[in-house]
Amino acid sequence: MNEKFKIITSPHMGYCFGVKRAIKLLMEGVGEFGGDNIYTLGEIIHNPQAVQKIKNMGVKSAESLSDVSKGDTLVIRAHGVERDIFDAARRKRINLIDTTCPFVKRSQEYVQRLHSQGRSVIIIGHSDHPEVIGISGHAKNKPIVIKSVEEAESLSSLRKAGVITQTTFSREKSDLFIEVLKNHIPDLIVYDTICQATVRRQIATMSIASEVDIMLVVGGKKSSNTKRLHMMCLENGISSKHIEVAAEIDPGWFEGVDKIGLTTGTSTPDWVIEEVEKKLNELAASG
Ligand code: F3S
Repeated sequence: MNEKFKIITSPHMGYCFGVKRAIKLLMEGVGEFGGDNIYTLGEIIHNPQAVQKIKNMGVKSAESLSDVSKGDTLVIRAHGVERDIFDAARRKRINLIDTTCPFVKRSQEYVQRLHSQGRSVIIIGHSDHPEVIGISGHAKNKPIVIKSVEEAESLSSLRKAGVITQTTFSREKSDLFIEVLKNHIPDLIVYDTICQATVRRQIATMSIASEVDIMLVVGGKKSSNTKRLHMMCLENGISSKHIEVAAEIDPGWFEGVDKIGLTTGTSTPDWVIEEVEKKLNELAASG
């Protein structure tokens, strides 16, 4: 069959280890307690389609602990939460299913260690991202969150500090900010906390992007690592579209295109990817 275009898929698509583990723990909880008494605090992962599927099983989303009663079960999301929330939930006798990704947990432990050493704690990341908010809530003193060279430069008065990076942050930018910090802070401990699953995805995405005409990046619009993949393509002058579901695909994007690259964020469910692949194959065959 003469195909209109070729589709090149990334070898790293679908849920990462941490998201798979979070969903598995949640499903085990539903099996044990039934969906009706289970709450997630905010969205368990940054993917509306997966979140909707979980809601359909009866699992509710709580805005805060006041929505959850004694004896109910609360699922702590893969991004983790502040320490205060664990303490308050235990005081209220709420059952906890902690799905915090072990890599995020490691960052939470690092900030506690740095604080106990009397160091200022610096987090490279986005201050409004749930992972960063959660990690910040594990340090006794509020960490300093930076996401630009200028902010790194502004910390020149610190003498003793430690730095970690949001797991899904850009490796390139993090390395740059750490160099700036090293030049200014005489006693600096650096913990490399960028998640390898994210790095592998970024490398695979850029490798595919270099040989195609357009990239399709599939994942939640709020998913930090999905947005990063899309932005990396655009920053490198590669045409890219960020979609959540197959229905968003506009066939007009592929006019005169020979090769399409497909990649996804770490919280994109398999069934969403299958629908996108099906739609692309149909469009390719329609030529
Ligand atoms: Fe964990 Fe890395 Fe996924 S930090 S949630 S395995 S992107």
